[in-house]
Amino acid sequence: MSRDEDPFRHLAPHFNPLFFPFSGSGGYIRRQLDACKRRIYRDFLKIRYVFAQWLHYPCHMTVLRVRDFEIHPGFFAPDAQRALVEELRDILSVAPLVQPVTPRGTPMSVRMSAAGEYGWISDRKGYRYEPQHPSGVPWPPIPARLIDMWQTLVPDARLPQCCLINWYDVTAKMGMHQDRDEADLTQPVVSVSLGDDGLFRMGNSTRGGKTESVWLRSGDVVVMGGDARLTYHGIDRIRPNSSALLPKGGRINLTLRVVT
Ligand code: SIN
Ligand code: FE2
Repeated sequence: MSRDEDPFRHLAPHFNPLFFPFSGSGGYIRRQLDACKRRIYRDFLKIRYVFAQWLHYPCHMTVLRVRDFEIHPGFFAPDAQRALVEELRDILSVAPLVQPVTPRGTPMSVRMSAAGEYGWISDRKGYRYEPQHPSGVPWPPIPARLIDMWQTLVPDARLPQCCLINWYDVTAKMGMHQDRDEADLTQPVVSVSLGDDGLFRMGNSTRGGKTESVWLRSGDVVVMGGDARLTYHGIDRIRPNSSALLPKGGRINLTLRVVT
C-alpha cells in the first residue's frame, strides 16, 4: 500500500507509519498490518463521531453525517485520485462509456460504464444489472484500491459486485432517485467523487419533502448504508472548472454495490 492510500496521512501528513522495510512484500506481515490499520481507522472514526460535536478540533479528516449519509471528505488524496483515474482509463478502453436511455426512451445526461461482475444498464427494456457491457465484453475487474476502500469503510458488508462509473459533463445532472435494483438492500452503496464538484441533494425515504445538499469534491467518499440506503438522492449540478484532475473537466462518480 502506498503512502497515498494510507488513511493516517490526515493525522500526521509527514509521518508514514507504513514505512517498514517489509511493507512492500505483499506477504503475511503486510496483510496483518493492513487489517490492523483498518481496525484502528474504524475506531478512530467512531471516536470522531462521539467527540466531534463537543470538540471543535481542527482535524482535516472530519466525517460528516447528514441524514444517515456518511461523508468522508478527501478520503482519496490527490495522488490516489490520479492513480484511480488512470485505472478508470484502462477500464473505459475495454468497456467504453455509453449514454443510456430511460425505459421511456429519454437519453440520460450522464454517460455510464462499469467494472466488476455486473454493470447497471438502462435501456428501452428497463433498468437491470448485466454481466456484460452492451458490446458483449465482460466488465473489467474493480480496481484493488476501491476494494480496499470498501473494506475500510464497510468491513461488515459483502464484497462489491459492481462499480458503476458515471461521467458528468458540465451540463449533466441526476434526478432524485433511490437505488433499489439490488437484491439485498441491507448492503450499503459507497460512492466516490472525482473531478469537478457536484451538488449532492439528500431527501427522504419517499419522494418529496425537505432536502439537504452538500458539494461533493474530488476524493470525497459517501457511504449510503442504514436509513440512507433507501433515501432519495441526486446531483443537481456540476461546478465547472472546480478541479484540475480531469484534463477536459467534468465529474466522475463511482458507486460500488452488492448486486445479488
Ligand atoms: C448516484 O446516485 O448514482 C450518483 C451520485 C453521485 O453522482 O454522486
Ligand atoms: Fe444513486
